[in-house]
Amino acid sequence: MVSVIFPAAGQGKRMKAGINKVFLDLAGTPMLERTLRTFSSVSAVDELIVVTGAEEVKRLSAILAETPGLKPCRVVAGGSERQYSVRNGLDAVSAQNDIVLVHDAARPLVTPRTIEAVIAAARVHGAAVAAVPEKNTIKAVSQEGIVRSTPPRSSLWAVQTPQGFRRDLLLEANQKAEADGFLGTDDASLVERLGWPVHVVMSEYSNIKVTTPEDLLIAEAFLRQAQSGAGGL
Ligand code: CTP
Ligand code: MG
Repeated sequence: MVSVIFPAAGQGKRMKAGINKVFLDLAGTPMLERTLRTFSSVSAVDELIVVTGAEEVKRLSAILAETPGLKPCRVVAGGSERQYSVRNGLDAVSAQNDIVLVHDAARPLVTPRTIEAVIAAARVHGAAVAAVPEKNTIKAVSQEGIVRSTPPRSSLWAVQTPQGFRRDLLLEANQKAEADGFLGTDDASLVERLGWPVHVVMSEYSNIKVTTPEDLLIAEAFLRQAQSGAGGL
């Protein structure tokens, strides 16, 4: 049984919209609703757990209860960092669900194919992340602005969400990170610290994280392309 945790408790500061960006419209549908609908269309998904700001929990619960076509959905309050929001989501996972996916609510273009592939890989390997081969040359740079190293591009993948785990593994990793005072930018990095191998699942370049205003334009362009039947999503 599969639960999906959606971190949606950020403030969307870089979007500069004055509201939590996951509530912004994308081609007529709020970003969060689009994300939840796509996951609800995957038969292996059993439960949705949306993590949002404490002040938004009540209103959002009421809205989602009225939204047709969603899998059973729970709304819980997040924390000051994404990692703490995921922890609160983990605490709300139904006891019988042994696989947990974490997916940024701000990635509304994820496809059912990628969701299914991450679930399958998490079942087999315990930990799996959606990712695409990196197209840019990435350099490690010092605080003084000096290039330190250039990892070979062929070894680099741009990691996205969903990231899927055996529930007990993610809980142990999250608890250990908190005990060690470690704050990761994704969930897999916490599991990597346990020495557990994390498998990479090929995703799509269109599965962008909507972060800044221009990302809204890019996301809408991908949606237009999909609606025109040109494929992609
Ligand atoms: N998130 C969360 N809890 C936090 C911070 C972020 O649940 N304390 C969520 C966001 O809502 C988003 C996802 O984590 O869906 C990825 O974070 P990001 O893109 O950084 O979103 P924001 O933190 O909202 O944006 P910003 O950093 O620009 O303020
Ligand atoms: Mg943030």
